[in-house]
Amino acid sequence: MKFDSVFPASRPVLLIAPMQDVTDLPFWRVLHRYGGPDIYFTEYFRVHSTSVPDKPILHAIRNKPPGKPVIAQMIGQDIPALVRTAEALQKENIHAIDLNIGCPAPVVCKKSSGGGLLRHLDHLDNIITELRRVISIPFTLKTRVGFDNIAEFDNILQLYANHKIDALTVHGRTVKEMYRSEVHFDLIARAVQTMPCPVFANGNVISANIGREVATQTKAAGLMIGRGAIRNPWIFDQLRELYANGEVQTRATLLDVREYVEFLYHETKPEGFTEKLQVAKMKKYMNFIAQKIDANDEFAHQIRRVETEKDFFQTCDRFLNSDTPFEPETPEKALVNAGNPRVDCY
Ligand SMILES: Cc1cc2nc3c(=O)[nH]c(=O)nc-3n(C[C@H](O)[C@H](O)[C@H](O)COP(=O)(O)O)c2cc1C
Repeated sequence: MKFDSVFPASRPVLLIAPMQDVTDLPFWRVLHRYGGPDIYFTEYFRVHSTSVPDKPILHAIRNKPPGKPVIAQMIGQDIPALVRTAEALQKENIHAIDLNIGCPAPVVCKKSSGGGLLRHLDHLDNIITELRRVISIPFTLKTRVGFDNIAEFDNILQLYANHKIDALTVHGRTVKEMYRSEVHFDLIARAVQTMPCPVFANGNVISANIGREVATQTKAAGLMIGRGAIRNPWIFDQLRELYANGEVQTRATLLDVREYVEFLYHETKPEGFTEKLQVAKMKKYMNFIAQKIDANDEFAHQIRRVETEKDFFQTCDRFLNSDTPFEPETPEKALVNAGNPRVDCY
């Protein structure tokens, strides 16, 4: 199937960013209930000499939201292992295979995987050559704009442009910049001009208006959204509305956020999980959802301290039982800074 056959005609294609420990099947189902992206990404398959494809991720692919394409991401640097995994994955019902060239976790980079590949461009070149040789379905890359410095990006782009890849996602930061810096949207625009394939813009798209601005500024074929979708699962439908009608019609209130949090709680609770574990798991999502709900950030502060399900929902009630409009991008900086994932965890 042609990669862009799933792209809508009159607006950028919308993708949920791959997020380790977040974009699993339960979270996909939650997003799907709110309209969801056009394309779903898996968490990454860890690939090394003795790895086999991770069963829960395969289960997610086999039970994906109906009618929606899925891209399976791999992370690794061992060529025979990557080839072996790609061959196995392409037998699954997936739209494309993606290679992670951006993970900044020191433990990953030290092994020259993820973002670490940007320090070994010859090896990266060989990986892409060998993967392209065996992958007969679409093959995509997700990159940062350099390891230490944005000056590296032209070389990196040239390397990608020399291969027949089907799409490139650019997270507009270097590996060193992690998650908090400004996003280099000018470099994403440069990638759009340079690459013969579709380019997806990624980084800090936290509202429909910002998404449209980023797409206009970069001319990207698609928008990949990560933390903004955890906080605001309506964002994909809001972008569709913005493109279709020139304005956003879906406006969530804090009560809608309360309902979303409750749905997330129950939908993402694995069978047999204790209340304590699920409350701890919810805090990972609440890092993004609870910021700047109230002026003093009391909600974010208090929700970090709860331990029981009862306390969790009572705290939600204290701050979210109101028809006050929910502002996904207020203030923008706070959300972006709050959304710094624990990079040692993937
Ligand atoms: C919790 C978390 C886990 C992530 N895991 C992955 C991953 O497995 N693969 C990947 O390519 N990027 C991963 N990322 C990076 C995101 O895909 C995305 O590039 C980054 O968050 C910037 O986009 P955003 O500002 O829309 O969140 C992760 C980010 C977060 C917040």
